[in-house]
Order: sequence, then structure tokens, then C-alpha cells
Amino acid sequence: MKAIILKDFGGVEQLELTEVPVPVIGEGEVLVQVKAISINPVDVKTRAGKGAAGQLKDQKPMILGWDIAGVVTESQSEEFQVGDEVFGMVNFPGVGKAYAEYVAAPADQLALKPEDIHFESAAAATLAALTPWQAFSDHGRLRAGQRVLIHAAAGGVGHFAVQFARHIGAYVIGTGSAENKEFVMGLGANEFIDYTTQRFEDVVRDIDFVLDTRGGDYIERSLQVIKKGGTIVSINSSANDGVQEKAKAKGVFGKSMMVQSSGEDMQHIASLLEEGALRAEVSKVFPFGQMAEAHQAIETGKTRGKVVVIF
Ligand SMILES: NC(=O)c1ccc[n+]([C@@H]2O[C@H](COP(=O)([O-])OP(=O)(O)OC[C@H]3O[C@@H](n4cnc5c(N)ncnc54)[C@H](OP(=O)(O)O)[C@@H]3O)[C@@H](O)[C@H]2O)c1
Repeated sequence: MKAIILKDFGGVEQLELTEVPVPVIGEGEVLVQVKAISINPVDVKTRAGKGAAGQLKDQKPMILGWDIAGVVTESQSEEFQVGDEVFGMVNFPGVGKAYAEYVAAPADQLALKPEDIHFESAAAATLAALTPWQAFSDHGRLRAGQRVLIHAAAGGVGHFAVQFARHIGAYVIGTGSAENKEFVMGLGANEFIDYTTQRFEDVVRDIDFVLDTRGGDYIERSLQVIKKGGTIVSINSSANDGVQEKAKAKGVFGKSMMVQSSGEDMQHIASLLEEGALRAEVSKVFPFGQMAEAHQAIETGKTRGKVVVIF
């Protein structure tokens, strides 16, 4: 089968399209013929030797990627039959080997793809959707009527976060640059702050929940606008050390989180997609042979919604 291997940690030149054997599935797994893969900042960080590189480094060959949508071609599980269309985030944090024509995936990490949702959109609604879903349900508890501030609201995580928060019934404030204002408001945000012209801490207050996608000084700045007893969930693991202690000193509940594969959460996401309560914005689609370009797009830090690679 075709796969993109990572020859060594480094730049995009380390990504090589080649042939490798089809994986063999074990008990509880399915073999998925991949139709679409979504690309995340963690793919880029891992390629460069950070992110999940620690888990990947002993694999031979190393194959990146976690987010897939495709068709089941073999099943050793009760959950799925051959021919089922599925999507999910495979073995995260760990080794997903998603940059391939076929992926061996634990059935309990997948959900059935709603019929009316394209493979591209389904692939997009995996890691980036699971993250805010888990942030709002497991790591903090966002409730109707609360005021939530979502940083980078136009990005992969942010654009799903805005929609979940709105669905929960929260009052949603998103940050982004001016060209994304209409997009973020269209997703259901109540207010938008253009971070290029305004500092959010000058214009918002009494926030119950911050979803911090940035880390660094965004933690201290966000803590200035959160109510006592509020919550900050910080997801940029390379820049969020000490969030818990910093938050505690301000009477705020602080948490750094790492998204986890979960078929149960994927089923909630599938239902919301099916109802039309959630949609994936896929702003860029690349063919499998242009994985390097997909990584370069993510590296700009400016992509709207999701970047997807298709077979
Ligand atoms: N811990 C976890 O489990 C977990 C899970 C998912 C993601 N993450 C991390 O979370 C971060 C975000 O991920 P992502 O997939 O959402 O990234 P992304 O899709 O690459 O984010 C791109 C977006 O960021 C916005 N942006 C850039 N600088 C900004 C700023 N200063 N203020 C507000 N918005 C800004 C851009 O909007 P403009 O063009 O309008 O500037 C763009 O739309 C990454 O570091 C990623 O690794 C962690």
C-alpha cells in the first residue's frame, strides 16, 4: 500500500511517499481504507522531533498521523462490518500511522460517519473536534449561560469549540484576526475580538471559562479576565507549564489537557454533524502526494478551520 513515511525528524523533505505492507489487524480492530486524513499542528511538531516524537521514534518505518475517515475493509470487532464508513482519531496520544492507504484502528476509537457528511469533513472533525469536546465536558464543565472566551476561534480547534459552546448555550467570545470575524460570528459567536488591534484583557471581563489554545503569556492575560471560581483549560502543551499553579493563585481552576482517542466522544460528534448542529470548515484540501504542502500550510499558523489530505 501507499504510505508516507518519516525518514527522520526534521523538515518536510523527510516525508517520503513509498510502498509498505498493509497492516495486520488484531482483536477489537478494524482495517480502514483511508479516504481522507486531517493534519494538525501536532503532526508538524512531531515531524520536527517534538509533539509525539517520543512515541514514534522506535517505529520502523515511522508513519505520522492520527485523524482518518474511510471504509472498513476487514473487521475483528463487534462494532463495525466490512463496508461501514467510519471516522476517528486513532491511538492518540501514541502512534496512529494515519498517513497510509490502510490503517489498523481500534474499533472503540471510531464512529460511523453520517451518510450526508463527506469524508473530508468527517476526517476534519476528529482530533480538533475531540479536543474542545473533552475540554468542555471532561476537563472543565462548560454550562449554559456561562461566558466562554475561545482563543484562535477560527482555527482547527477553535472553530469547533465555538460551535460546541454555542450548542451548550454559553455566551461565546472568540479571538482572531479581522479577516476571520465574519467566519467566527457565522459559527455562532456572540462577540469577536481582533487580536491584531485590541488586547482581549482590555475589552472583556467576568469570563467563566477560557479555552486557551496559545499558552505563554495568554495564560497570565487570560487569568486577568476570569471570574474567581472560573476555569482555564490550556492545550498548547509546549507552552502551558504551570497553568494549574498560576490559576490557583488567582482562585481559578487551571488545567492543561491532552486529547484522548474515544469512540464514545466520536459518536457524540457524529450525532451533532448529522443534526447539522456542527460543521467542519475544510479550507484546504491536498492530494496524498502533497503532504509536504499540507504541513507547510499548517506551519503558517494562519489556516482557517482544517487542512485535509485526500486519496
Ligand atoms: N493538548 C491537546 O490535546 C491539543 C489538541 C489540539 C491542538 N492542540 C494545540 O492547540 C493549538 C491550536 O491548534 P489548532 O489545530 O486550532 O491550530 P491551527 O488550526 O493551526 O490554528 C490556526 C488559527 O490560529 C489563529 N491565530 C494565530 N495566532 C493567533 C492569536 N495570536 N490569537 C488568536 N488567534 C490566532 C489563526 O487565526 P488568524 O488567521 O485570524 O490569526 C488561525 O485561524 C496548537 O498549538 C496545537 O498543537 C493541543
